[in-house]
Amino acid sequence: MTVQRTLGLVKPDAVAAGSTGAILAMIQAAGLKIVALRMTRIAAVEAEAFYAVHKERGFYGELCAFMSSGPIVAMVLEGPDAIVAWRNLMGPTDSTKAGPDTVRGRYGASVSLNAVHGSDAPETAAVEIPFFFPARELI
Ligand code: RTP
Ligand code: MG
Repeated sequence: MTVQRTLGLVKPDAVAAGSTGAILAMIQAAGLKIVALRMTRIAAVEAEAFYAVHKERGFYGELCAFMSSGPIVAMVLEGPDAIVAWRNLMGPTDSTKAGPDTVRGRYGASVSLNAVHGSDAPETAAVEIPFFFPARELI
């Protein structure tokens, strides 16, 4: 087991629904440590950069519009195998297929409005964490 850090986002749908506190509680109950936390809002061009890996996909425009549509909560989570641990707690991309013990199962609505984001690999986390947090903000 390796101690890792990963980027988590509470997406605009879940922030607007008032689900942020409950999601943070699920994260802490799962034993993941929150080592950085900030509410912010990203512009469409920033969402385009953040999700650039998906730019050829049909849902890219809709995704970037959604991610810039309102406040989000960005966080850095730390723990043993934190990347997979957070992805497992999030549940699958399609919220309608997510189990009741997952964040997307409880707070997501669909494949696109799915409440949370998580880095999918160490290389991704290494790019996504500094996208939101300068090194001096990381405890
Ligand atoms: P994320 O990057 O946000 O953590 O989600 P993920 O890894 O589970 O899914 P990914 O394939 O990376 O897709 C990124 C986000 O794009 C939206 N999406 N919409 N309409 C669609 O078919 C569709 N597919 C993906 C979702 O918001 C997804 O989380
Ligand atoms: Mg992804």
